[in-house]
Amino acid sequence: MYNDNPTLSGIKKEIDESKQGEVFFQEAGLQGTVSDQKHFYIESYGCQMNFSDSEIVASILSEVGFQPTRNMEVADLIMINTCSIREKAEDTVRKRLRVFDKMKQQRPGTLVGVLGCMAERLKSKFLEQEKLVDLVVGPDAYRDLPNLVSNAEDGDKGVNVFLSREETYADISPLRLGSNGVSAFISIMRGCDNMCSFCVVPYTRGRERSRNAFSIVAEATDLYQKGYREVTLLGQNVDSFKWENPETQEVVSFADLLAQVADVHPNLRVRFSTSHPKDITDEVLYTMARYENICNYIHLPVQSGNSRILDLMNRTYDREWYINKINRIYEIIPDCAISSDIIAGFCTETEEEHKDTLSMIEFAGYSMSYMFFYSERPGTLAARKYEDDIPLEIKKKRLQEIIQTQTKVSQAHNQRDIGKTFKVLIEGTSKKSDQDFKGRNSQNKMVVFPKAADYRAGDYVNVTIHKATSATLIGEMIAE
Ligand code: SAH
Ligand code: SF4
Ligand code: F3S
Repeated sequence: MYNDNPTLSGIKKEIDESKQGEVFFQEAGLQGTVSDQKHFYIESYGCQMNFSDSEIVASILSEVGFQPTRNMEVADLIMINTCSIREKAEDTVRKRLRVFDKMKQQRPGTLVGVLGCMAERLKSKFLEQEKLVDLVVGPDAYRDLPNLVSNAEDGDKGVNVFLSREETYADISPLRLGSNGVSAFISIMRGCDNMCSFCVVPYTRGRERSRNAFSIVAEATDLYQKGYREVTLLGQNVDSFKWENPETQEVVSFADLLAQVADVHPNLRVRFSTSHPKDITDEVLYTMARYENICNYIHLPVQSGNSRILDLMNRTYDREWYINKINRIYEIIPDCAISSDIIAGFCTETEEEHKDTLSMIEFAGYSMSYMFFYSERPGTLAARKYEDDIPLEIKKKRLQEIIQTQTKVSQAHNQRDIGKTFKVLIEGTSKKSDQDFKGRNSQNKMVVFPKAADYRAGDYVNVTIHKATSATLIGEMIAE
């Protein structure tokens, strides 16, 4: 569930940690004469939930008179929304802090804030390790930002890493500055109660809690009215969404929520991420099949194709269970695309066990995967219980084999689409050519096709595919 460029299906993407963080942008207020308004600059790393959180942060700060800027040099407050999922993600943040340090030397008085998962993991240690940091704010403490900023302006460095059991920011309307105006994320839950042994998220994001279902539907409705045509419901484990109406005691399940959001309008596409194989139910699959506007795409991370490794990972399913789940999905939604997350070289993994992962990629026929080698995270179950004993070269070699297998499978997946016609939601102009549109089909594949007059971002068009790479489908619009 990484914020990434979805055109690259099947290819290992240096997604979260190595690319430059995304920067929110708003030109207004920055041109011409100097305004006396204060400006914030925010860079985001990590998963889509972090990007979604940055929109909440932007909203909270704009309420107290801060304006967003893409230009770090004019910012009074520089923030970095961080990720701790792998060591490399944290290294990237430290590199960026060096850049901010230079900025601060040039403009004394500029405040630097570290937000998100790394703030939560390192807490006040950040202030000791990084002298330039003024604020350390965990994912559940963003409402306290105005207060922390104001104290920091008076010279008081501040830390708030309190993890809440209730906070969902349900009442905050995110400031969607980085958006294309067509697709938006909606956070439907926070935290994670699964204890996958490799994973730092339960420690950085706290306990799982679901957001008020009414507020989710209201946000989707508002987005539709503003011209958005696609929402992605976000959570670490969306299938365990469960919200009880305090007045009626009625319980809204994830399948119910999907239907409620899909009912907002038939022209509002609904996507979701991430599904945990142990929690996705037939009810969810039937709901997907019933609604044309719920996209036929499931991100169902397998992590490993081997049952012994899955047990060590504490994923609570085994290879057979996962295979049955895949079969069930294709049975109920025959044209569903499935993607995955895969970890190479987890503790004690043998060559044979690694091969089980390769064969799982083939069996599941993933349209794409996010692929990583195992990176031990301090404090996790795996770090405490198992030795990180697979040498780096072996991890890298196995990752390469996983990438090769996935690329081949993605290529075949896309080749099968040649000749088919898909309903595509136009997202904007293609990066490669301003003569082409880009958009996605229901299966979340990027489709590129020549522009035609009278169409624009947010429109649905039918596109027949005549060419495919492992990453993109290329086609032409056909008349309605
Ligand atoms: N909630 C999602 C995943 C969130 S983290 C789920 O359960 O599927 C995104 C992905 O990062 C994970 O699926 C996993 O493949 C990868 N990941 C998490 N911890 C990791 C680690 N310590 N080393 C390497 N990859 C890791
Ligand atoms: Fe991490 Fe597992 Fe929770 Fe996903 S389900 S966030 S991998 S602990
Ligand atoms: Fe997301 Fe990274 Fe945190 S993946 S939940 S930003 S550790």
